This record gives sequence, C-alpha cells and structure tokens, in this order.
Amino acid sequence: MSLLHDYPLQTGVNNPYLRTVCDPVVDCSKDIIKLSKDMAKLMRLHKGTGLAAPQIGYPIRLATTIQWRTKSDGSMSETGETVLINPTIVKHSEETFSSEEACLSIPDFVGYVDRYRRVTVEYQDIHGNHKTKEFIGYNAAIVQHEIDHLDGILFVDRMKK
Ligand code: CO
Repeated sequence: MSLLHDYPLQTGVNNPYLRTVCDPVVDCSKDIIKLSKDMAKLMRLHKGTGLAAPQIGYPIRLATTIQWRTKSDGSMSETGETVLINPTIVKHSEETFSSEEACLSIPDFVGYVDRYRRVTVEYQDIHGNHKTKEFIGYNAAIVQHEIDHLDGILFVDRMKK
C-alpha cells in the first residue's frame, strides 16, 4: 500500500496538476528511473493501462503504458510495457477511429473519443536512449491519451458533444 500512499492520484477535471503543460525530462537520472519503475507498478495497482506523471503530481513529460493484442477469441492479452519519456507523435494516419476511454483521474466515467488509427512516436527510454515506435489501434489510443495528459488535456475535452 505504500506506493499508493506515496503517490496520491490526482483526480478531477479542474485539478491544476492535470491542466499543466508538463516540462521535458532533461536528464534520465536515478530519480527518473525510480519514478518510472514506481509508476509502472502504480499503473497496475490502479488497474490502468497507462499512467502519466502529472496524474501523480509530477508535471514532467513521462508516462508508462501497457500494449495489448486482440486474441482470436476477441479477448485482450498483454504484449509489453513501454515507458515514454518526452514522447512526440511524429507521424499519424489520416484514418481515425472511435476509442472507448476511461481515465484513472476521472473515476467512474467512460466516453468515446476520435483517435488516430496509427501513430509513430519518438521518445526516450529510461536510460535516455532515443527510440521510435509505431502504435496501432487500441495501443495508439492509449499513447495518444497519455501524451494528451502531458499537455494538460483530458479525454473528456475531446469527446463529441
Ligand atoms: Co488518463
């Protein structure tokens, strides 16, 4: 329980932590590595599939995400976990899809948002190495949702009226 105690979840659409344009991570220090690892654990404790640093009160450009694949029976299985430091979408499909989303910072609320079907993201890993990765479908939506958090944007802002 100590992690949940150490990193209280910031909630509410008007919470200032969730409305901040976060600062770049300038140095992948030991502190950043520890925070990344703690966030990955926290994400799972909260049963989320993504967690952005501002959601626990750190206004920096860092998010953890889980990737998934859809199995032949329609259920989802996990394929990996990616820590995104200073992520930027450098390319995206024209095609969008309607993504069903929820957010740990907006409890008990689900809505539909248009997201790009495919996004290519440049980011740094916890050691500061520059990476490029393509995300598709649900995984692309997760990454877009988390990058929005780093810009103070919540999925409810993007919902169709
Ligand atoms: Co969220």
